[in-house]
Amino acid sequence: MTAPLLEIRDLSVSFAGRHGEAFEAVSGVDLTVSAGELHGVVGESGSGKSVTMLAVMGLLSPGARLSGSIKLDGRELVGLSDRQMRKVRGVRIGYIFQDPMTALNPLLTIGDQIAEAVRIHRPQVSRAQSRARAVELLQLVAIPMPEKRATQYPHEFSGGMRQRAVIAMAMANEPDLLIADEPTTALDVTIQAQIMELLEKLRQDRGVGIVLVTHDLGVVAGAARSLSIMYSGRVVERGLVDDVFAAPHHPYTKGLLGSLPQPDARVERLRAIPGAPPPISARPAGCAFHPRCGYAIDICRAERPVLRQVGATTVACHRAEEVAAGQAEEMSVHDA
Ligand SMILES: Nc1ncnc2c1ncn2[C@@H]1O[C@H](COP(=O)(O)OP(=O)(O)OP(=O)(O)O)[C@@H](O)[C@H]1O
Ligand code: SF4
Ligand SMILES: [Mg+2]
Repeated sequence: MTAPLLEIRDLSVSFAGRHGEAFEAVSGVDLTVSAGELHGVVGESGSGKSVTMLAVMGLLSPGARLSGSIKLDGRELVGLSDRQMRKVRGVRIGYIFQDPMTALNPLLTIGDQIAEAVRIHRPQVSRAQSRARAVELLQLVAIPMPEKRATQYPHEFSGGMRQRAVIAMAMANEPDLLIADEPTTALDVTIQAQIMELLEKLRQDRGVGIVLVTHDLGVVAGAARSLSIMYSGRVVERGLVDDVFAAPHHPYTKGLLGSLPQPDARVERLRAIPGAPPPISARPAGCAFHPRCGYAIDICRAERPVLRQVGATTVACHRAEEVAAGQAEEMSVHDA
């Protein structure tokens, strides 16, 4: 059996709090992505999505402490030197940031920036060749008139075009894995759909594995084959998108699905999950979701549920069987 493209096992990342005490922003995360697969990572703000992905890229801030294992094609990345990691970044893994402006230099033309991304890892490529490659890459991400566009500056591009340029840059060295951290949140709905189409095309035509980080389950529904749902630094449910959508086993997943707009309803029904996620430095004992969970019972406040296979999905909830079967009674939660 070949190793999965990306295999994260028991990843924990902690930061020092204001008074010096350490807090775990990511706690025991497992995540597997196969080659050519689009995997969605979904969770509310602060659930640890970006920290997990920055750990994969070796881009955590120096004060962060990391434990666990991150393997790319079976090769352990944890413990690699900065020099070794630089070769992995940008060559084997491409990273697409939420805000394209943070990834683009306003003072350089788009073409020069993409050419630079090519040459930084392959200095033997001539300037002329790398410029030609930049035009090719702009064409790959469906930017019209790529020769002309390559000579323009970021401010001459629209938001959607900038994101395309960033994707072109991430693809510069034909990576096996693309990590897209909320690539569409800054864009309007039509452009969002176009960017998703582009990612899907890259997956199909180039066979890249993609991790798509988002807080929007709706985006994942149309694009991903599998997904992981994160809550308070942990994965609480994962599985194939079809299985999770057909029979969610975790109350949080159920809540997220319930808050999706109903396409057939005349009025959009948005059922928000009551309360807000806890600060990660003050994660509740037992199941971190318990203050917001209508199904919580005594064991939930005392014991942390572990991930286990229930039905077709893998879930961390003491009452997963009853929740999925609709046998558990949901109480209203007034205060979280
Ligand atoms: N460098 C850092 N130092 C200290 N704490 C950090 C650092 N980076 C992230 N955190 C904390 O780790 C937690 C997880 O952050 P993360 O950025 O991974 O969330 P996220 O799921 O990506 O949220 P969002 O949807 O808002 O992007 C947060 O509580 C955040 O404040
Ligand atoms: S373990 Fe308990 S509190 Fe946590 S999600 Fe399941 S039922 Fe709710
Ligand atoms: Mg984030």
